[in-house]
Amino acid sequence: MKIAVVGTGYVGLVTGTCFAETGNQVTCVDIDANKVARMQRGEIPIFEPGLEVLFVRNIAEERLKFTTSLSEGIQDAEVIFLALPTPPGEDGSADLKYILGVAQELGPLLEDYVVVIDKSTVPVGTAEKVREKIAQNAKVDFDVVSNPEFLREGVAVEDFMKPDRVVVGTSSENAKKVMEKLYSPLLRQGNPIIFMDERSAEMTKYAANSFLAMKITFMNEIANLCERLGANVDDVRKGIGTDSRIGKRFLFAGIGYGGSCFPKDVQALAKTSQDYGYDFRTLHAVMAVNNDQKTKLIPAITEYFGGSLSGKTIAVWGLAFKPYTDDIREAPALENIRILTAAGANVAVYDPEAMDNVKQLLPDITYCHTAYAALDDADALMIFTEWPQFRTPDFDKMSKLLKAKVVFDGRNLYEISTMRELGFTYFSIGREAVNRVESEVC
Ligand code: UDX
Repeated sequence: MKIAVVGTGYVGLVTGTCFAETGNQVTCVDIDANKVARMQRGEIPIFEPGLEVLFVRNIAEERLKFTTSLSEGIQDAEVIFLALPTPPGEDGSADLKYILGVAQELGPLLEDYVVVIDKSTVPVGTAEKVREKIAQNAKVDFDVVSNPEFLREGVAVEDFMKPDRVVVGTSSENAKKVMEKLYSPLLRQGNPIIFMDERSAEMTKYAANSFLAMKITFMNEIANLCERLGANVDDVRKGIGTDSRIGKRFLFAGIGYGGSCFPKDVQALAKTSQDYGYDFRTLHAVMAVNNDQKTKLIPAITEYFGGSLSGKTIAVWGLAFKPYTDDIREAPALENIRILTAAGANVAVYDPEAMDNVKQLLPDITYCHTAYAALDDADALMIFTEWPQFRTPDFDKMSKLLKAKVVFDGRNLYEISTMRELGFTYFSIGREAVNRVESEVC
């Protein structure tokens, strides 16, 4: 099929590249001329495991092209994806200016029947607004479909190629056929394409992300209670996750969820609810708890150092909001580092991918080339991202480099028993603190 993808952010680029890989002719459109020129030279603008090899191959085999011209990009396209940003406005509602702007431009450019697909996460009712905008100037028949993405950063290619399900919101039989043809190569394992109306599809995306954010947040509150009751949240997680009604995934307690989707989508759904006169109390609780959870290790570390962090050197492992990405949007690490430096601590950080993205935002901390370099002469280590290389470190080397064997772990990377045996003072989430009393006395 001939496909146009408008917007080459994270979602647009993964969508365009993966559909090229499944044999389609894809043209990606972006207003950023610089970015387009770079992509035309085969330079990928984002870090996403597994994407670059597909990106380079499909450009070389001429299935993937880039342009700044909307009219050129949509030429002969059977489907046009809109993968444009929907940043939250001041009040938390999603700003539709980019999507509606492109919809307005599209109308007069359409020459034949086409399916326009909303891929961005958009408020319920957006498909209708897009349809109205296009219809103002369109001379041909077209359909607008809502087709939300459920891609996780870090595993987006796999999520795209083997989706649990594809959700399509449309009541048009023509559009259904086009969407079935488009997605059929990805649904060979029998995973469903689920058709519904546009509003329900738009709602599905918000409901999915809000539910997952709630699941994590619930577990974080269980963790907070475990700490007070002397229970271990890891065991509780295994105990409840094996119940198929609950499921094993997204039950890991930590320092809260971040990223570009959960915080924005939970906030937007709460705002939509408010606009429609409904107070979605669960969502307000999720936001408040997550906000507190992000910095929950700060009181512990401050107390550990007798009430002041002034002059202490804190090593930090992990900046990205999660592993396998360089994305630092809403990353708990950044807020924690700002608090540490404001309290007079020196911070030395290491992250395998995200350091370049943080340097401009936090110029006054030390960026290290390896995880161990960050430990050199530090008073304590704080862990904010569960990169695999942090999971099985050389504890001997850590002990020698750190001034004192003290770890505040926001991702529960180590066994309590291991840390006890090795003589570390170890604080984690929802589990007992190890060797706390002894070290404080020292
Ligand atoms: C999410 C959704 O999973 C995806 O379907 C949607 O399309 C976009 O938003 P993403 O933001 O890439 O994807 O990250 P995800 O892997 O879902 O993690 C989100 C946050 O939750 C991260 O900060 C992660 O650290 C946190 N998390 C996740 C936990 O704290 N505990 C868990 O058990 C799982």
